[in-house]
Amino acid sequence: MPKMYLMIPGPTPVPNDVLREMAREMVNHRGQEFSKALLESTELLKKVFQTNNDVFIFTSSGTGAMEASIVNFFSPGDKVIVGVCGVFGERYAKICNAFGLNVVSIKTPAGKGIEPEELEKVIKENPDVKGVFLTHNETSTGVTLNLRELAPIVKEKDILLIVDAISSLGAIDLPTDALNIDVVVTASQKALETPPGLSMMSVSPLAWEYYERAKLPRFYWDIKMAKKFLEEGATPFTPAVSQVFALRKALENILSRGLENNFKRHKILGSAVRAGVKALGVLNLLADEKFASDTVTAVVPPSNVNPDELRKKLRQEFGVVLAGGQGELKGKIFRIGHVGYVEPTDVLVTLSSLEIVLEKMGYDGLRGKAVESAEKVFLNS
Ligand SMILES: Cc1ncc(COP(=O)(O)O)c(C=O)c1O
Repeated sequence: MPKMYLMIPGPTPVPNDVLREMAREMVNHRGQEFSKALLESTELLKKVFQTNNDVFIFTSSGTGAMEASIVNFFSPGDKVIVGVCGVFGERYAKICNAFGLNVVSIKTPAGKGIEPEELEKVIKENPDVKGVFLTHNETSTGVTLNLRELAPIVKEKDILLIVDAISSLGAIDLPTDALNIDVVVTASQKALETPPGLSMMSVSPLAWEYYERAKLPRFYWDIKMAKKFLEEGATPFTPAVSQVFALRKALENILSRGLENNFKRHKILGSAVRAGVKALGVLNLLADEKFASDTVTAVVPPSNVNPDELRKKLRQEFGVVLAGGQGELKGKIFRIGHVGYVEPTDVLVTLSSLEIVLEKMGYDGLRGKAVESAEKVFLNS
């Protein structure tokens, strides 16, 4: 198999010691060994979530936890505000609609985030709003919201704040308790350096009050049932046993490196990618610098370059795998993931391959430019 550089915003590369945990022999999911792994993973997750709230692990992709964050806390007809900065904000709005909530969307142009004044205005216009859903890091556009500014606006009232941190938790600072965020959802396959298959959700005391009043139907995602089982060191249904062993190892690795160091590393990787892309002169960054994500960079190629052709060449010639555009950006952009088990060398290989492929596509004089700019970021950090 040719060497591969998986530079997409999830699933992300998995370190060997984490992969080895997946190869353990199967155990009884109601036995002591799994129980220990589940309870330890849950405690380690609380550190990564920066919370003392309850944290639950579900066997599902991230979208499962998104659904859990709706059915556990709301009733049909409840009014909610959903921040839509791209495909994943749109997904939250779609799930809320599917469950009969009354959705007020704040939709931003591609590459832009939500400004505090905008959120303040919409909350004021909708005094009966019960919840606000925000995507911390919109993976489809490479936009990160400033929750330090936005969270206090929501929490000034007793409105439930739900944050999708699926492509940020562990990589971009998200102090759940310090910002008083009621519900945070994430998944295993991005910054948490674990294969896909697990999602997680934190639940504040206010969210538990909402739970008691909520009337939406729920079964698989019922957190009261999950809490009862977790107290016994178990899950209500058969869990993805191997993924939980892997998750524990990955969390131990991340925390032994230090959360702050992980945030810093992703900041540097993001800056290096953006500096490299900008230095080429022929590519544009989709996201406003102010909202630029540390985990994923969306890039707009010149109009005569098909981003999907470019990605194909990068994959075939250099084993560099990038992501394409989603939704209305399909066929218009490509995305470089720099999240999880990704190192500066991976970024340098990606940028160097990009220079060569673009040169082969007729863009002369790019050689070394992106790499040099990224190297400067690494040297100065
Ligand atoms: C911000 C964000 N939200 C939600 C999802 C959906 O997660 P999943 O594909 O694991 O269901 C993703 C996946 O890329 C994401 O990046």
